[in-house]
Parts: sequence; structure tokens; C-alpha cells
Amino acid sequence: MEKLKIAGGYPLKGSIRVSGAKNSAVALIPATILADSPVTIEGLPEISDVEILKGLLEEIGGKVSFSNNEMMVDPSGMISMPLPNGRVKKLRASYYLMGAMLGRFKRAAIGLPGGCHLGPRPIDQHIKGFEALGAQITNEQGAIYLRADELRGAKIYLDVVSVGATINIMLAAVRAKGRTIIENAAKEPEIIDVATLLTNMGAKIKGAGTDIIRIDGVESLHGCRHTIIPDRIEAGTFMILAAAAGKGIVIDNVIPQHLESLTAKLREMGVHVEAGDDQIFVSPGSRLKAVDIKTLVYPGFPTDLQQPFTSLLTKAEGSAVVTDTIYGARFKHIDELRRMNANIKVEGRSAIISGAVQLQGAKVKASDLRAGAALVIAGLMAEGITEVTGLEHIDRGYSNLEEKLTGLGATIWREKMTEEEVEQLKSS
Ligand code: EPU
Repeated sequence: MEKLKIAGGYPLKGSIRVSGAKNSAVALIPATILADSPVTIEGLPEISDVEILKGLLEEIGGKVSFSNNEMMVDPSGMISMPLPNGRVKKLRASYYLMGAMLGRFKRAAIGLPGGCHLGPRPIDQHIKGFEALGAQITNEQGAIYLRADELRGAKIYLDVVSVGATINIMLAAVRAKGRTIIENAAKEPEIIDVATLLTNMGAKIKGAGTDIIRIDGVESLHGCRHTIIPDRIEAGTFMILAAAAGKGIVIDNVIPQHLESLTAKLREMGVHVEAGDDQIFVSPGSRLKAVDIKTLVYPGFPTDLQQPFTSLLTKAEGSAVVTDTIYGARFKHIDELRRMNANIKVEGRSAIISGAVQLQGAKVKASDLRAGAALVIAGLMAEGITEVTGLEHIDRGYSNLEEKLTGLGATIWREKMTEEEVEQLKSS
């Protein structure tokens, strides 16, 4: 097991490049199952979620190669192999195998998904969608079994605006008979990216990116080449980092429109943000003002940036309220930030941050992916040395993080943990 060590307090400068979007990648890779000839996806991030999905496609008979961020999947030899346990439990997005396998084979058996522990994360809206398309679903010993004689298009109203349910229903519906209409669909850019891949494969989809998506099922889908969108959450993490510990940072390979809610909040705090075509320049103002944020579905402030933003707020003057309306319990990073001298209390779905304080280096543990990002930012802001454990979470979603940060002048490195440290971590 490894830990990250960060010597904080040094201003960072230069440019940093954003990788392909994790939350698109984890849907695009399963989507390749739906084709009958090879699909190539360019620009994938080098993260463990991508590696796990590659292994899962191979487990069901796919031929997969992955190098230089490009994945080629030949799905022609795939079979409807049950995947009840093992690797599927390692990531939340393994639920996309349900939609994709149901779409292609009319059957699937998938272990209940794992992923970050952010409080309850039901998949009832996915199931509701699959059932509306004609699937029979049972839940046996921690796995979901889906089976349909045929899939027929249906009108599906989502009771909760869900990224995962919107994409999963799209995956199952593209090869169903007739028209599917998803109402109250999520509008995140990753949904448009998946719809673009499916359309290039021959699917007929209209309205992705709006709250009504219409899908006319087709008999078969073919291979194609697709370039993934940049990761707006990684880009947002770097923008926050630039405001927290930067001295002028250019973030490259971004779609600035995807980050408007964050840009608005940073400007409100007094941060200088300049957007170009595919890059954003961020430099902190002389004084940072506390601002409140409330997470919402896209295009609102993303829940995935709430935790990193909280680290930044410790440096702002005044009191700020961070409310997460998507995941009301996404506050496991707060105790760790407190260890670093932050003054934060949690009340219900909100964290109240009083600043400004100077963070101090400490030994902290990442409990989930974005908590990890929050702690790395805090470590770079802090005086002294910070040690971050729980790197398996960070490695799920941030590609080559230390190399990228070292490029900005950060002093950050990985070290092997001693046996004693591993024992302590297990018992904590
Ligand atoms: N929800 C339900 N029922 C469902 C599905 C969702 O009640 O059937 C609820 C959830 O509990 C949550 C809300 O609806 O309160 C939104 O959940 P959504 O389905 O949109 O989340 P998700 O698809 O499981 C994706 C990202 C998350 C991100 C959320 C919200 C992936 C693989 N994950 O999750 O990303 O936080 O959307 O934007 O795309 C991350 O990247 O760190 C991460 C956790």
C-alpha cells in the first residue's frame, strides 16, 4: 500500500492538462458491447476504473487493446456471461454493463455496483426503466438478474434526475423495438458524449443534453471511432487548486461552458478566471471572500466539486455554507480537514466553514475519490507535510496526478507504507 506525501505552502505556476472524462469513459466502454464490429475510443484517462472495465469486457469474450489512451474493443465474440461478483463490485459504473448487455443479449447478471460511499445510492430508476422496456428483473444474493424475450420502446419518466439511469436506459433502448422517450432525463455533458458515440455506431437518438430524450431502436449497431470529452470534474479540481495554491495556472483541454457554475462562484470569491476556447487561466485575487454553494444537477454546481471547493473555502474570509442536495452525506472529508486546522461544522446536508485559517500538514485519509482530491488540495495549501492514505480512491479517477502537479512545481510524491502504518489504517 502507498501514501502520498505533500510538502505544502509553495505557490504553483504553469500549465496542466486535463485527461478524458472518467464519468464518460465508464459508460463509453460498456457501450461498445452493443456494436457488432470494432469500436475505438480515443483520449481515455489512465485510471483504475478504465482498467477494471477493460478486464470485464475481456471476461465476457471481448478482444480489447489499450495503449496511448486509445482503447480498441472488438465485441464480435462477446457472450452473455454472468458477472455476479468480483471486479464488478469495485466500481459504481459497472451498472452500465446491465443496460449494454440487456440491449445486446436481452439478458444480464451483474453484481450490485460498488464505488464511492456517499450515503445511499439506489438504482431504482435504472430498474424502473429496464422494466418499462420489457425486462424481468430479480435480485438474488447481491446480484441483479435481467432477462427479456424482447425489448420494446416505452415512455419512461424518471422520478429522480439521474445521470446513471438516463445513460443506462439509453444503452438498453438503442436496440429495442420502437421508440423510447426518457422524460426528466439528466442533462450532463457525459450523456451527450455517450449519445454521440451511440449515434456514430448507428443509433437514432435525439435530445441528449435536454430533459427529453427520444430513441428509435435499430436492429444492429456497428463499430466507429470516437474521441472522449475532457473531464470537467478534473478540470474543476485544477481550477480550485489554482485558486487555493496557485500563482497563475493555465488549465488545458477543457470545455469552458461545462464549468460555468464553478467559474461564477470563483469570480464571486474574488478569483480571476479567464476562459479561452479550450483552456482556462486561473489566478487567485489578493483576498478571497467566503461564498455559499448548493450542489444541483447540471448545469448547477456539481456535487463532485463540492469537496474540493470546501478546502478552498478554508482560505476565504468569512463564513460559508456548502449544501449538497444530491448526496446529503458527502462530508467524510470534513473530519480530515479539521485535523489540518480547518474550522468546519456539519449540520444535516450542509457544512459551515469559518475562515480564513492557515491549514497545517497532517496525516489524513481519503474516504472517497473527491475527498481525496479535497485533501490533496488542502495538503498543497498547508504549512508543512501532509500524508494522504486511501490512494486507491484517488487512482480511480485522477490520471497521473503527481506527475501533473509536479509539473506545476508541487512537491508531492508516493511512498510505500510500513507494515505498522497499514495495520493502523485498517483499524482506523
Ligand atoms: N438516485 C436515485 N435512484 C436512482 C438513481 C439515483 O434515487 O435510481 C439518486 C441518487 O441517490 C442521487 C441522485 O439520484 O441522490 C443523483 O444520482 P445519479 O444517478 O445522477 O448519480 P450516478 O449516476 O450514480 C454519477 C457520477 C457521480 C456523480 C453523480 C451526480 C458516474 C459513474 N458517477 O453518479 O460521480 O456524483 O452522477 O452528478 O457517472 C464522482 O465522479 O466522484 C462521482 C461520484
